[in-house]
Amino acid sequence: MTETLPSLPEHLMGRYRAAQDFISARLPIAAVASIPEIRLHMAGPQSGLSRLAEKDPGFGSPYWARCWGGGLALGRYILDNPESVAGRRVLDLGAGSGIVGIAAAKAGATDVIAADIDLYAVAAMTLNATINGVTLLPRIEDLTEGEPPPVDIVCVGDLFYDPALAARVTAFLDRCMDRGMVVLIGDPWRAYLPSSRLKLLTEYPVSDFGDAIGGTRPSAVFALKAAIR
Ligand SMILES: C[S@@+](CC[C@H](N)C(=O)[O-])C[C@H]1O[C@@H](n2cnc3c(N)ncnc32)[C@H](O)[C@@H]1O
Repeated sequence: MTETLPSLPEHLMGRYRAAQDFISARLPIAAVASIPEIRLHMAGPQSGLSRLAEKDPGFGSPYWARCWGGGLALGRYILDNPESVAGRRVLDLGAGSGIVGIAAAKAGATDVIAADIDLYAVAAMTLNATINGVTLLPRIEDLTEGEPPPVDIVCVGDLFYDPALAARVTAFLDRCMDRGMVVLIGDPWRAYLPSSRLKLLTEYPVSDFGDAIGGTRPSAVFALKAAIR
């Protein structure tokens, strides 16, 4: 198992390596509470993310350093139902830490593309893949803009937190379904979820980022239904 490098121009490769060095040094590795099969670099009180944000103008919101309700539910579902992805090609869209893609790879997916627009997320997910003994194919780009890559299953963990993003992601997922792909979504019932288009598969109690210590909320796994056009 080797780390697959994202395709990056030389000037970004330096920043990618620096991000990996920071994550390796400052974000301890811990098992995920509701998915103990997966271990991730996660932010702690000593990680210094806000100091890094002050120094690096390219530093966005560190979604990749935390666990989110959507990814926790979808990752758990995939490991509980490995037949949902085994032997198939998977896209993890908005992969963040890579938690969903890592679950898919562990469950026997053949190739797992993990895409995010944040360089730090891609740096974190490739480190996290190595820790978990799997390979992800990292992509740093906004795939919602174009033609879907050739996969069988598209997994989306917690991408419906912003109205414009939710509309773009839904349109992209419709294009994926038009091409015969299955779409699985994990989400803790956020405001911009296209609920009328979703078939509920299951729910898990999970601890979303920001919940009180030990607190949980229901987070659901859905299959996207075809649009009525
Ligand atoms: C709330 S986090 C969820 C991360 C992960 N899926 C999980 O469940 O833990 C949302 C992630 O989506 C990424 N993102 C936002 N817009 C995106 C886009 N258009 N294409 C790809 N990733 C995007 C963010 O950078 C962030 O890493």
